[in-house]
Amino acid sequence: MTMATSADFKPYEFHDLTSGKDEIVGFDVDIAKYIGKELGYEVQINDMNFDGLVPALQTKRADFVMAGMNPTPDREKNVDFSVVYHEARNTIVIKKDSGITKLDQLAGKKVAVQLGSTQETTAKDAAKTVQGLQVVSLNKIGEIVEEVKTGRVDAAIIEDHVAKGFVENNEGLQLAPIETAESTGTAIAFPKGSEHVAEFNKVIKKMQENGEMDKLIQKWFGQ
Ligand code: ARG
Repeated sequence: MTMATSADFKPYEFHDLTSGKDEIVGFDVDIAKYIGKELGYEVQINDMNFDGLVPALQTKRADFVMAGMNPTPDREKNVDFSVVYHEARNTIVIKKDSGITKLDQLAGKKVAVQLGSTQETTAKDAAKTVQGLQVVSLNKIGEIVEEVKTGRVDAAIIEDHVAKGFVENNEGLQLAPIETAESTGTAIAFPKGSEHVAEFNKVIKKMQENGEMDKLIQKWFGQ
């Protein structure tokens, strides 16, 4: 089976070069491998831009998507989702000296987000009330972080687990939690009507019951 993802989202999926070869690893990848083993599928990973993932399912170029993706009502019009297997919330990433601590301080600021993500929706919604907030949509999380570092944008909105990793590896950056951010679920996406949803759900439930999911959460998020 082909799994499509956007491998810019450590610890969910990212390129690991430490072994000398370029491998896509992470929380989502381990879950996919476990499910594949349980169900007898070989899983092949196809890395693409995040905003290409739902179209890849719609055109059957992928059998499923795991990309730290939230099952939003909008997406549910075009794809089917598994049960939720993880939770996360959004955070603001800024430079240490920015003085920004809250969303409403982003008035008149440039805010980078991933194209096609729920963070893009969040930023666009915020722009309706926060005067002059300018949304800059980019393809890869790495580019977004780079834009904050160089000051070409003032802030980014990224998922907390992922943002934490980038901030730990970048001296000059810090996080500002969004107080109103609700925790949202992460699920596997499939083409509409896919026969695989039910069997995937069964394995996810099994992993949640037999401790495998907790083991992987510990491994990748250390909590
Ligand atoms: N959770 C957000 C969403 O569903 C962002 C996911 C981004 N994932 C990625 N692999 N870059 O839109």
